[in-house]
Amino acid sequence: MKTVTLSTLKALKRAGEPFSCLTAYDATFARTAGDAGIEVLLVGDSLGMVLQGHASTLPVTLDEICYHTRSVARGKGASLLMVDLPFMSNASTECLLRDAGELMRAGAELVKVEGEAWMADGIRELTRRGVPVCAHLGLTPQSVYQLGGYKVQGREAEQATRILEDARALVEAGASVILLECVPASLGRAVSEALEVPVIGIGAGPDTDGQILVMHDVLGITHGRTPRFVKNFMTEADDIPGAFHRYHEDVKARRFPAQEHCF
Ligand code: KIV
Ligand code: NA
Repeated sequence: MKTVTLSTLKALKRAGEPFSCLTAYDATFARTAGDAGIEVLLVGDSLGMVLQGHASTLPVTLDEICYHTRSVARGKGASLLMVDLPFMSNASTECLLRDAGELMRAGAELVKVEGEAWMADGIRELTRRGVPVCAHLGLTPQSVYQLGGYKVQGREAEQATRILEDARALVEAGASVILLECVPASLGRAVSEALEVPVIGIGAGPDTDGQILVMHDVLGITHGRTPRFVKNFMTEADDIPGAFHRYHEDVKARRFPAQEHCF
């Protein structure tokens, strides 16, 4: 695989070719995912849940994310490295800029931030300084206590319209990528069609430009309740590299997500 950049993702979108993304938290899994052709790796704050055993992503610190980012950056091949800003990095623009700077120094190539239209100012300041941003909308896990649980967002027309308008506003402010989590497939399609920038979905239906999953879900080792949008690719593979390859191929061929994984 040739080195993946933001331009690659934009070109794939223009060509109507979907791309695959996967979380990674260390060098070996990062390399294995890259070797399978996975275009984008995310050091997600989901590490608080899948690595640390917390019930949410809120306890994860900037230093912990930086530690995993350095590991993934050393191991990754040609994949693009996206990294999450942790809970409360958006407390102020100053805080946002400082934390994003730390992530970029640790090896991030794209930083992801949760937030609605009000994040526009922060995103504008980041992009002005050369930090590309992915804006995470829909179900934003850092707001789980406010949302009252991990629930599908944008089911009502009014809420769906707001998510689409927020996405437009954040792209206008400079966001290079939008990530949509847990929204109806119809909204995933509408946002992807409305925007020129790539839209990555998780539980957002088959029509987003990219798909992302948490690695532990792909490997079928998640404990507790697994969300509807998850698929265990180990059942159709002989080993871990095979499962990553299968996931990548299924995204590329638009076999994943299937109807049963969508809202
Ligand atoms: O932290 C994470 O892994 C994420 C993905 C689920 C999108 O934000
Ligand atoms: Na996250």
